[in-house]
Amino acid sequence: MRIVLLGAPGSGKGTQSKLLVEKYKIPQISTGDLLRAAVAAGTELGRRAKAAMDAGQLVTDDIVLGMIQDRLSRPDAKNGFILDGFPRNNPQAQALDSLLARIGQPLQLALLVDVNTEILIKRLTGRRTCVQCGQMYNVYFQASRVAGRCDKCGGELQQRSDDNEQTIRKRLDVYEHQTAPLITYYRSQNKLRTVPGEGDVEEIFKKVVGIIEDHIHPLSSLRPALAPTAPAKPKIPAKPPMPAGAGADRLSPKSAVVQKPAGEREAAVAASVKVAPQKTAAKKKAAPKKGAVKKAVNKKAAPKKGASPKASAKKATAKKAVSKKAAPKKGAVKKAVNKKAAPKKKGGAGLR
Ligand code: AP5
Repeated sequence: MRIVLLGAPGSGKGTQSKLLVEKYKIPQISTGDLLRAAVAAGTELGRRAKAAMDAGQLVTDDIVLGMIQDRLSRPDAKNGFILDGFPRNNPQAQALDSLLARIGQPLQLALLVDVNTEILIKRLTGRRTCVQCGQMYNVYFQASRVAGRCDKCGGELQQRSDDNEQTIRKRLDVYEHQTAPLITYYRSQNKLRTVPGEGDVEEIFKKVVGIIEDHIHPLSSLRPALAPTAPAKPKIPAKPPMPAGAGADRLSPKSAVVQKPAGEREAAVAASVKVAPQKTAAKKKAAPKKGAVKKAVNKKAAPKKGASPKASAKKATAKKAVSKKAAPKKGAVKKAVNKKAAPKKKGGAGLR
């Protein structure tokens, strides 16, 4: 799994990354953490980075790219990685794409954590981090039980030197002008998904996992032995992008890396971007075209992961039964399919 977490300072990239590390056992690579470690170690690189960090500005690309190249080449990044706080501008994103293309491991997903600016300031001014284990707290939202001490290891909690209001405002400004354009960059590659980043951390995490599993199917990419053997879907001839709400926002693992022609890609992206926050509602409302109906019906009839051969045999029968039901009138098909194909609510990832 190779993903980038995008988002303004304080949106929760670090918080969600740590939960992802626990779940998927792949490293979080945070350029902010790497730079702070260099500053703390007093290296030449750290000395050069410190002034920019204290001013809320970006550290120069040559420093950051050198660090990333080195970090990605380590063995623990072979099975995937979560990039947190990198890339931060277009040149960094392009350099990352080239680097990953060279090793044949393209990025699979750019996940934007979306939070309102007023909340960001409170989150950043209230953030405290354990100097020993790195656990994060927030004096406004997630205070430790004993003030100034880590619940996990008893270590001292510290405030980051750039978490003062003046520097925070500068960091938010830099994000707006230099990093936010990456939303368009990844959208044009059809790799962008958005998760609302306000509310309970665990609830946000569930949505994050839902998006990841919809988009890149980590079970098949991380644990090949558990990958389903039967084809999940029959082959369907190439069609134009589906209308919003008819499944265009749900991508197969292949579609995450195989690019459609630019025009189609934009249309598909526009469709997924405009989709209503509640996927279920959007699907119910959309009048599916013939192709979309077929797909939805086939999906319903497909066996679940790990289904027995018997179940696969039943698939054909199920399909027939569904087609039979769908046969009489166009309107009747729509009704039947809308009822049957409505997916179970997954936690309303709110894709944009
Ligand atoms: P970096 O360390 O990357 O900082 P940032 O991007 O500003 O992001 P933060 O770490 O502040 O926020 P976050 O989104 O990770 O939020 P978190 O989970 O911590 O960069 C620092 C500096 O290094 C930059 O300014 C730049 O100078 C330099 N730099 C780094 N990368 C660079 C690059 N690629 N190129 C050039 N320069 C670079 O959460 C924040 C707080 O909110 C915490 O207290 C947390 O507990 C709380 N919180 C999280 N989620 C929730 C929730 N759902 N509800 C309530 N509170 C929450």
